[in-house]
Amino acid sequence: MTSTLALLGGKPEVAAPGPHFTWPPIDDTTRAKVAAQLEEAISVPDRSGIVAELEDGLQDYFGVRHAVTTSSGTAALHATYWASRIEPGAEVIVPAWTFHATASPLFHLRAVPVLCETLPDGNIDPNRVEELITPRTRAVMVTHLWGKPADMPALVSAANTHDLVVLEDGSHAHGASIAGQKVGTFGLASAFSLNGPKPLSGGEGGFVLTDDDDIYHRVITLAHYNKRAKTEIPQGHPLARYAVTGAGLKLRIHPLAAAIAQDQLARLDGYLGGRAEIARYLTGQLARIPGLEVTEMPTGVIPSWYGLTLTYRPDELGGLPIERFHQALIAEGATEFDRPGSTCPMNQLALYQHPASLFPGHPHSHRRYRTGDFPVAEHAHAHTIKLPVWHREQDLELAEQYVRAAIKISDHHKELL
Ligand SMILES: Cc1ncc(COP(=O)(O)O)c(C=O)c1O
Repeated sequence: MTSTLALLGGKPEVAAPGPHFTWPPIDDTTRAKVAAQLEEAISVPDRSGIVAELEDGLQDYFGVRHAVTTSSGTAALHATYWASRIEPGAEVIVPAWTFHATASPLFHLRAVPVLCETLPDGNIDPNRVEELITPRTRAVMVTHLWGKPADMPALVSAANTHDLVVLEDGSHAHGASIAGQKVGTFGLASAFSLNGPKPLSGGEGGFVLTDDDDIYHRVITLAHYNKRAKTEIPQGHPLARYAVTGAGLKLRIHPLAAAIAQDQLARLDGYLGGRAEIARYLTGQLARIPGLEVTEMPTGVIPSWYGLTLTYRPDELGGLPIERFHQALIAEGATEFDRPGSTCPMNQLALYQHPASLFPGHPHSHRRYRTGDFPVAEHAHAHTIKLPVWHREQDLELAEQYVRAAIKISDHHKELL
């Protein structure tokens, strides 16, 4: 390798201007579906039309009895917690490192998120769950960070031992699986986002999955008052008399978002298959580069490749700071290499350090988190570089250029010290 680093005036390794990754893929079929929906209905207050089609499709895809769409993943999580009877003062064990919405709706229920240390891959550490269990613990909420399934067999077993409910946030991991079982189907209920870059996207939106009728009726009560509650909650059910008002919230998906998500759902497995191919190439190549470590995937674990994560090893590059390495990647034109921002250890966020200002008198006030509380999660977060994974064969050339950029910087790292 004779070229000089772009950061120091050399020729960038990736010539085409970014962005190099856009999501979701929108084509004429998507456009036609949205246009048709625009004519058909832009408000769907019951379970009909595009909303019914999407929910039926999700039920088939995940093999569950109930899928209920919502306006966002955050709303789906709120509904999931409320439906699971997470009551005031109840504690829910959540991974310390996730996007905060995995846990933040708990504040609105006056319930307590209890942060649990993670493994270096960012997923909740099953061996650290038990030490957090108290008589007030009701549930464990699991995120499959960056699309790598968490160790569900171990988590389900720990939860069963202590009679805890298992819930999942599948927002990064649509279609990911463990030994053939899709994430989102391991617990009592699961919540997913359909937001912008998610593996299954409607632009905005979310959904809850469950096999449990009680959870289903409660999700409808929280998220879909009036028409849906009237038609989907059976006469004589204790919640039926609340149908007009539900629990006071309306968290409905927009039909145009539902049309996009329904169009994308039909292609999801194709996307995941394409990503797996490119990820195989990328992980094989990147694993050989001094300074970068690739996240291992255990046998039988199929990720969604929402993000391909690399652990940066400054010790292998003479102590070169990650900021400088990342800057050099961007200068090479490999602008999709990213460092996690808002998806960070939650003990670093104001809401988890000072909840009382936003939620006076909240039972969480006694449990204020501080930077440094979760050394494994915090070290991993500070040393993560991630890359979205392309799914089309023609993007392999771009992937090759990204690999060359990383090799070049690793080879020439001394020039950056
Ligand atoms: C893990 C996780 N959970 C929940 C959410 C919230 O989803 P939404 O943005 O659709 O509200 C997101 C993302 O945005 C997320 O990454």
